[in-house]
Amino acid sequence: MFEHLKPLPADALLKLIEEHRSDPRTDKVDLGVGVYKNVRSETPVLDIVKRVERELLESQQSKAYLGTAGRALFNSRMQELVFGDTADDTRLLTVQAPGGSGALRLGAELIMQANSNAKAWVPDETWANHTPLLNSAGLTLAKYPYYDGKSHTLLIDQMLDGLRKIPSTDIVVLHACCHNPTGVDPSEDEWRAIVDVLAERKLVPMFDTAYLGFAQDITADAFAIRYAAEVLDELIVTASCSKNFGLYRERVGALSLLAKDSTARDVLASQASMAARTLYSMPPDHGAAVVARILSDDTLRQQWDKERDEMRDRLSDMRSLLSTALENKSTGHSFAHLTRSKGMFCYLGISAQQVARLKQDFGIYMADSSRINVAGITSENVGYLADSIVSVL
Ligand code: LMR
Repeated sequence: MFEHLKPLPADALLKLIEEHRSDPRTDKVDLGVGVYKNVRSETPVLDIVKRVERELLESQQSKAYLGTAGRALFNSRMQELVFGDTADDTRLLTVQAPGGSGALRLGAELIMQANSNAKAWVPDETWANHTPLLNSAGLTLAKYPYYDGKSHTLLIDQMLDGLRKIPSTDIVVLHACCHNPTGVDPSEDEWRAIVDVLAERKLVPMFDTAYLGFAQDITADAFAIRYAAEVLDELIVTASCSKNFGLYRERVGALSLLAKDSTARDVLASQASMAARTLYSMPPDHGAAVVARILSDDTLRQQWDKERDEMRDRLSDMRSLLSTALENKSTGHSFAHLTRSKGMFCYLGISAQQVARLKQDFGIYMADSSRINVAGITSENVGYLADSIVSVL
């Protein structure tokens, strides 16, 4: 039965984890997959997560099923986190999903149920997994202009023009903050203009948000979603707790839907329930239980805010460190854009051949597009990194 199947290439990003792991060089540097790393290049379990996990271990009385929508407290706390207190709760629905990817897939299933002819428009440069993930649910994808690779800036006018040409009722995928891979986000005024075009054209946004709190703070980073929830009739949000809670392997995510009214919301709840049941039945609970507890207690929440702010500040410091180290080399090649970008990623702005040489000759790992995870930079490796990058320019 299976003998006709052909082997598929490994996922280009995930392959970097294994390649870096098996590289014996001691000065190797991992700027590949998007996981946070501290000054010792470790991806630690947050202190607040450890504390709540210990508490859970003692207090949890049952592991019985919770249902297709997961943990109710997690869903309401995530909804508050993402939408604040201004959105109309009677039109909002949030269900737990297995990570941000599971939320995207669940959202795509609902889009297909509602309109199997809808296209999903993604920014021209987007997370590498958006295309295969949304395609696998049956959605057709297209691109709208987003990023200028020469100036490393947002193509706001072209983006707005592109959005104006999209057929009404299509889906527009947007990164709410810390755009992956470019780190280039619209300003608040630009977001208003984008959302106003969506309203004018009757387009439904699907905000993917995996980095809330990594650009500025939760309120500022959720600005686009909250503004869209005020202005639009319908929207979709997929949220991940992998990065900002450091819960990567626990697969914690949420799908939120804003419907036209409470009746439509209830219909969506039943559709989401059936879609989850047929895809994975129920989401995993452990990480969601941790998040629900942290977001339900002021003291725990403050400690999370503090640890998240520390991660955000380190990402920003490491961008500046590498940018300065490279600018000091006076190569004639500008790296000033590194400090303008937000979150975990930006493009270095070098060719795929130069990326390959960095890997082969220096043990420096990054995506072929030259996207770097700035969390992989440390004050110890920055000199080596800058020298190596300059030597391949
Ligand atoms: C990334 O873009 O590196 C992360 O979101 C991890 C992943 O699953 O691709």
